[in-house]
Amino acid sequence: MLIGFPGAGKSTWRAGWVEEGRRAGRPTVAVSTDDLLLAEAAAAGLSYPEAWRRAPKLEGRARAAVRAAVEAGAEVVVDRTNLRAATRARFLRLVPPGYVRRAVVLVTPPEVLRERLRLRAEAGGHAVPWGFVVGMMKTYQAPEPGEFDQVDYLNADGRALGPPWPWARTGGP
Ligand SMILES: Nc1ncnc2c1ncn2[C@@H]1O[C@H](COP(=O)(O)OP(=O)(O)OP(=O)(O)O)[C@@H](O)[C@H]1O
Ligand SMILES: [Mg+2]
Repeated sequence: MLIGFPGAGKSTWRAGWVEEGRRAGRPTVAVSTDDLLLAEAAAAGLSYPEAWRRAPKLEGRARAAVRAAVEAGAEVVVDRTNLRAATRARFLRLVPPGYVRRAVVLVTPPEVLRERLRLRAEAGGHAVPWGFVVGMMKTYQAPEPGEFDQVDYLNADGRALGPPWPWARTGGP
């Protein structure tokens, strides 16, 4: 399960993980609320934040996709911000015993996030207003002991970070 703010690099990390799985011949499934959201926004002519307000419905669809993936025995990456423990729990409880529940926390400083979002929007990728990200930061809850079997913190370049982890506490950057 990826944990990170918009622009943190979740979908980029996910693409690498899926590619690694493909090369190794492991069945992998990526579940992304953003993919669902962007399709929905395009179909309904809504902006990203407008479509985001319909998130509960999207979450249900994402959960159904996770359920189908684990029934098929695939490894699954949940590519969404996953900032709050309660929403993470709704996904984690779908995973049967035997799966390693791994969190990958993308620790990306706010100024890097802001610049990446700007560049991505300029390049035609989906635009996320900065105020929206700041609002999300206030909701961040760090992974708690017992929530995952493994927690990896990665820095803005995707390299593993040792302790002390900057975002190991609730409250965000
Ligand atoms: N490790 C990295 N180094 C440099 N740039 C990166 C890295 N990872 C991602 N980026 C760039 O940052 C931008 C945001 O990345 P990405 O779309 O993967 O973020 P995200 O976490 O999926 O965001 P969102 O939640 O909005 O979907 C992209 O333009 C991407 O190319
Ligand atoms: Mg993404």
